[in-house]
Amino acid sequence: MDIFEQTENLQKEVQETVITDAEALEKFRIRFLGSKNILKDIFGEIKNVPNERKKEFGQLVNKVKQTAEEKFAALQEQFQQQNTTAETIDLTLPGDVTNLGARHPIQVVKNQIVDIFKRLGFAVQEDREIEDDWHNFTALNMPEDHPARDMQDTFFINVNPDIVLRTHTSSVQVRTMENQKPPIRILSPGRVYRNETISARSHCFFHQVEGLYIDENVSFADLLQTLDFFVKELFGKDTKIKLRPSYFPFTEPSAEVDVTCFICGGSGCTVCKQSGWVEILGCGMVDPKVLENCQIDTKKYAGFAFGMGVERITMLKYQIKDIRLLSENDTRFLEQFKSAR
Ligand code: PHE
Repeated sequence: MDIFEQTENLQKEVQETVITDAEALEKFRIRFLGSKNILKDIFGEIKNVPNERKKEFGQLVNKVKQTAEEKFAALQEQFQQQNTTAETIDLTLPGDVTNLGARHPIQVVKNQIVDIFKRLGFAVQEDREIEDDWHNFTALNMPEDHPARDMQDTFFINVNPDIVLRTHTSSVQVRTMENQKPPIRILSPGRVYRNETISARSHCFFHQVEGLYIDENVSFADLLQTLDFFVKELFGKDTKIKLRPSYFPFTEPSAEVDVTCFICGGSGCTVCKQSGWVEILGCGMVDPKVLENCQIDTKKYAGFAFGMGVERITMLKYQIKDIRLLSENDTRFLEQFKSAR
């Protein structure tokens, strides 16, 4: 092998040597760049190279040296960086705190309500928030110009007054009665809208859970038993209910339901305004006219319905004084419900 070939081989070696740690790099440095490196030895052979090729040979040896220097510098830098990162990771430091979210109190209470009725065989039924006049009003025995429409200040769409933002989830009950044959046992939770001035007590949108039960031989006693079970599950087994006669166009008879104040137990406090009772829902036997509107045979079937505001129950349960807190989504407020289920 002549001296040119030997030098070419060294060039190859420099390029191809795989170096993965500092020890191998030091060996590489000694071999190619150290004070007694192999390139010096080979350069010493220049005396035996014919004159006309001396320049070519000198350039070739220099190229090997340069390649070795560059490779060494690059690897040295790489190893140093790895070292510093390894040193700066302090495994004894406490980990980053992951800030877990919390369920919104409205969801917490809605789930509690739904779970109780699920145990009584009620299935959850949801539907659209943008409704037509028929499902929100007319089918529910509130024809146009019916004064009861004023009870629910409605958001209409300007260009088409037949389209409304639903004012209650009773519209879901109408849709279910139109599409399903009795027996029907549904719960319709969802967001509803009313054109009310926003204050500590009322908002232009809120949430309801309404229920509907239609079957043969359903009576007012069934309604009473269902609600009695519900309030005892939600507020505690000592809770009592009281029904006050009321009016809804879609139920007859209709009632509003009060429960014994679960804060003071009935002795009177600020939550129940010293009365010992708090109002939580409206209910009644479904008006036969509503059943007929949905093609349900009123000779065979009867039913009851009820509806409650989730915000109201949430505010009572957690003694929240301003309904706006429930939609502002201030995390300082919401974080307090982390443990609520
Ligand atoms: N839909 C009524 C409301 O929004 C509540 C209700 C439902 C009352 C069913 C009676 C029966 O005010």
